[in-house]
Amino acid sequence: MAEDNPLRGRGHSSKAAYDPVQPGPAGTAPRRGCWSSLQGKFPILTKKPFQILLVLLCILPFGLLGLLALRNRGHNDATCTSGNCSSGNKNAIKDDTYFYGQSQPCYPSPNMTAAVVATWAGAVGKAVAMVRNMTIEEKVSLTTGAPSGTGCSGSIPPISRLGFPGLCLSDAGNGLRATDFVSGWPSGIHVGASWNKVLARQRAVNMGLEFRTKGVNVALGPVVGPIGRVVQGGRNWEGFTVDPWLSGAFAFETVQGIQSVGVITSTKHFIGNEQETNRVPANGKEAVSSNIDDKTMHEVYLWPFQDAVHAGSGNIMCSYNRVNNSYGCQNSFTQNYLLKEELGFQGFVVSDWGAQRSGVASALAGMDMVMPNSDLWGSTLVEAVRNGSVPQVRLDDMAVRIVASWYQMKQVGYIFIVLSYDTRDQDFPEPGFGMPPDLTKPHRIVDARNASSKRALLDGAVEGHVLVKNSNGALPFRKPRMLSLYGYSARNPDQWNYNAMGGVSAWSFGGESAYQGRDVAGAFALESQDQLPQVAPNGTIVSGGGSGAVTPAYISSPFDALNARAYEDGTALFWDFTSAEPYVDSASDACIIMLNAFSSEGYDRPGIRDKYSDGLIRHVAQSCNNTVVVFHNAGTRLVEDFIDHPNVTAVIFAHLPGQESGHALVSILYGESNPSGKLPYTVAANESDYSNLLKPDLPEGMFEIFPQSNFTEGVYIDYRHFDAKNITPRFEFGFGLSYTTFDYSNLKIDKNTSSSTESYPSGPVEEGGPSDLWHTVATISADIHNTGEVDGAEAAQLYVGIPGAPIRQLRGFDKPFINATQSATVSLKLSRRDLSVWDVASQKWLLQRGQYGIWVGASSRKLPLQGSFDL
Ligand SMILES: *[C@@H]1O[C@H](CO)[C@@H](O)[C@H](O)[C@H]1NC(C)=O
Ligand SMILES: *[C@@H]1O[C@H](CO)[C@@H](O)[C@H](O)[C@H]1NC(C)=O
Ligand SMILES: *[C@@H]1O[C@H](CO)[C@@H](O)[C@H](O)[C@H]1NC(C)=O
Ligand SMILES: *[C@@H]1O[C@H](CO)[C@@H](O)[C@H](O)[C@H]1NC(C)=O
Ligand SMILES: *[C@@H]1O[C@H](CO)[C@@H](O)[C@H](O)[C@H]1NC(C)=O
Ligand SMILES: *[C@@H]1O[C@H](CO)[C@@H](O)[C@H](O)[C@H]1NC(C)=O
Ligand SMILES: *[C@@H]1O[C@H](CO)[C@@H](O)[C@H](O)[C@H]1NC(C)=O
Ligand SMILES: *[C@@H]1O[C@H](CO)[C@@H](O)[C@H](O)[C@H]1NC(C)=O
Ligand SMILES: *[C@@H]1O[C@H](CO)[C@@H](O)[C@H](O)[C@H]1NC(C)=O
Ligand SMILES: *[C@@H]1O[C@H](CO)[C@@H](O)[C@H](O)[C@H]1NC(C)=O
Repeated sequence: MAEDNPLRGRGHSSKAAYDPVQPGPAGTAPRRGCWSSLQGKFPILTKKPFQILLVLLCILPFGLLGLLALRNRGHNDATCTSGNCSSGNKNAIKDDTYFYGQSQPCYPSPNMTAAVVATWAGAVGKAVAMVRNMTIEEKVSLTTGAPSGTGCSGSIPPISRLGFPGLCLSDAGNGLRATDFVSGWPSGIHVGASWNKVLARQRAVNMGLEFRTKGVNVALGPVVGPIGRVVQGGRNWEGFTVDPWLSGAFAFETVQGIQSVGVITSTKHFIGNEQETNRVPANGKEAVSSNIDDKTMHEVYLWPFQDAVHAGSGNIMCSYNRVNNSYGCQNSFTQNYLLKEELGFQGFVVSDWGAQRSGVASALAGMDMVMPNSDLWGSTLVEAVRNGSVPQVRLDDMAVRIVASWYQMKQVGYIFIVLSYDTRDQDFPEPGFGMPPDLTKPHRIVDARNASSKRALLDGAVEGHVLVKNSNGALPFRKPRMLSLYGYSARNPDQWNYNAMGGVSAWSFGGESAYQGRDVAGAFALESQDQLPQVAPNGTIVSGGGSGAVTPAYISSPFDALNARAYEDGTALFWDFTSAEPYVDSASDACIIMLNAFSSEGYDRPGIRDKYSDGLIRHVAQSCNNTVVVFHNAGTRLVEDFIDHPNVTAVIFAHLPGQESGHALVSILYGESNPSGKLPYTVAANESDYSNLLKPDLPEGMFEIFPQSNFTEGVYIDYRHFDAKNITPRFEFGFGLSYTTFDYSNLKIDKNTSSSTESYPSGPVEEGGPSDLWHTVATISADIHNTGEVDGAEAAQLYVGIPGAPIRQLRGFDKPFINATQSATVSLKLSRRDLSVWDVASQKWLLQRGQYGIWVGASSRKLPLQGSFDL
């Protein structure tokens, strides 16, 4: 069979499809409706012209995707596919055909069918009617990004004759980026650290309103991949947490919140996008391949995407990396099978910016839209449809998926009311309405901020702060007479200004404090990552760098807020933000050191503790017996070099709070807010405790040209790894202190007798998979008593021991606010999915017979309540 495979390119073929028609690896079951049914149903796969097309596409230089790509996103497109795949290693694999067969082929791409998901029926019906009236050129124009003269990250042109106004897609998951009059929301990691679903929803709704006001149809977020497998991963901070269940819970709230105000979410990056190193083909190497077995894929990496699809995400973004050596945007197994068939995804798949590597193959493999533009589609796709290389029905499905998402979110705008088929929703602004291309030129002022968002911005900023040490009653402050302030992350950077020259400017990519953007720009230019420092030394950070950065219309820096508070209280202040060894006035009531751990898209972090910052802390602590350390950390930050110092009395992981950073910090330091954040990742004692998951995988040996990242640890990432290897972390997953104390009691386990406990789900596939995956199988409840003296919220956590799975996995949480001396009851539902394991043989979630361990408590290692039940 393999010999007949026309998808094999000739010679160097990295632009070709990677999914040859041959059985999967031994031991894997045939896929339902997937590769087993391929040969009969897809005659195009046996036609010669198709081969020729692929060869042609192979040699088309990927080249510059236009200045637009660079201007807005700045990805480097130098690739091995331009023909130079040299390697010093004689044994190095030079031909991609070596890898054929590692990712199973799954064709044809499933249609979007209203029959499957009733909630989309109206939108699909209208979309089918509109698409029926389109020419091939019009359908193709829906699929191919094109310059629009706006400041949108990407645009789809209008089809005015049919009342379709086009689409504006813009960054990103932490707020609308790179324009004026917008807010800077807490970053994903900060939301994860808040353990607060209500706040996550409020953030999403209010953030969504800003995208809407500016005429952005698609918000390019949330991020659930990377999930954070690689501790030094450069984009982990854009996602919520390294735990798939928790990530999925926040993805669900975020998708529903943003879409509730009519903006489509682009949940990204699908899938296995776990490192920045070698993320795109460059310097004679292909992009890294994430090699993930089926069980790990389902139980970790696909899990939060499943929640996003279940929440109705109208768009999914395919990723730069390869999966089993097949590029993310042309991987038929991940897109056609996992996403569209197994999860029943409605809506469309868009490429990450510049992630398309083939024309016909990406269309057949389920990609529906390319961004920001492409020579491989556009008029080339028109030809490919005309001559049969891409079936007409595939193009129709792409167009229907795009138009249906637009209808589903009710984006029919007033401009097109006369022509439109639906007059119910007339107030969505025209695409890019408030997104001028150049802020220095006269432009319409569209203030997207909403006075009613202020509370959500501040609460969100407060709750992502995690207090991990508080000795000698250091915090909260009680009317300090004198404070001494140190560290480079206290004040705002010297510049916070639009750069009309465009490109990867400091401001637009969140890099003003990172040597005024030099490091972010260097990373996008694929400069050597070893040269980049760990910290942003030129000011405070409120987000990381890259497309997930925020560009708020104002920032409350810690120094601004402390200064204002000192004015109110009459507190004396000293500060020194530049010296490595500052003097300390011995009359200081406390010394606050504000530091950061910077991270950006484009490169992985060079380390997770830096000598300069640790040295500054130890220096100040020598002469100040009440030293409070605050890190704005875009990821894990180790603390061993100072944490046991008796004069370091308090340590706060302040993460990436967004624009209210200073206000939030002061509110916590002065006890106006009681800290309630908890770590959404594990802080190890030493780097080596993370073993092979500390750093990205590098090209090596015979794989020098085709870097491989083998996810051989399976589901054992973060706390699952520490539990399995019995390694004591410095601060465990789920840990965080409060100004009060909580007691747990009265564990109750109630099995739901009316719910089926058959081994496999049997419901119809709806968005997210079989409908009965979400049926409640058991309910766990516990009482929490606030035994301290101040009111506060407690993130109570439920862990489950599933037979044959990691000893404990997070499967629920709630965060009640409990007044001093009062109690609250948390009640947490366990669904069929929560208790199942992925069964590779049957390709279904399996609910096993056996005993299920139950733990409830304050963190992954402080679990006072324990029980079990049998199924
Ligand atoms: C090919 O790559 C090698 C190693 O990166 C480099 O030395 C050489 O100049 C390149 N050749 C061309 C034609 O780009
Ligand atoms: C990758 O290969 C593994 C092992 O053969 C298999 O279990 C998994 O399903 C494959 N995934 C994809 C996307 O091809
Ligand atoms: C998609 O729908 C078209 C009819 O519109 C049909 O011809 C085609 O076979 C369908 N494709 C799949 C994969 O079901
Ligand atoms: C399609 O176009 C025809 C002719 O221009 C028009 O009569 C019809 O209403 C259109 N279809 C829909 C669903 O609008
Ligand atoms: C079909 O069109 C594509 C896109 O232009 C082209 O590459 C391919 O060679 C064409 N096939 C035939 C048989 O003309
Ligand atoms: C940024 O910080 C570095 C290190 O402290 C310093 O050398 C440099 O002068 C600063 N640059 C600007 C523009 O402030
Ligand atoms: C702690 O600070 C005091 C000054 O308040 C200093 O005398 C002492 O040496 C410091 N302790 C350490 C271990 O550095
Ligand atoms: C810390 O130092 C201050 C001033 O030097 C002193 O008054 C205070 O008692 C010290 N506190 C402790 C806990 O040693
Ligand atoms: C990754 O897996 C491949 C195939 O099993 C193997 O040849 C290669 O050595 C592995 N790479 C590493 C770094 O373990
Ligand atoms: C908690 O205390 C506040 C005042 O501190 C009060 O307004 C609120 O009603 C109390 N809530 C409950 C549930 O007792």
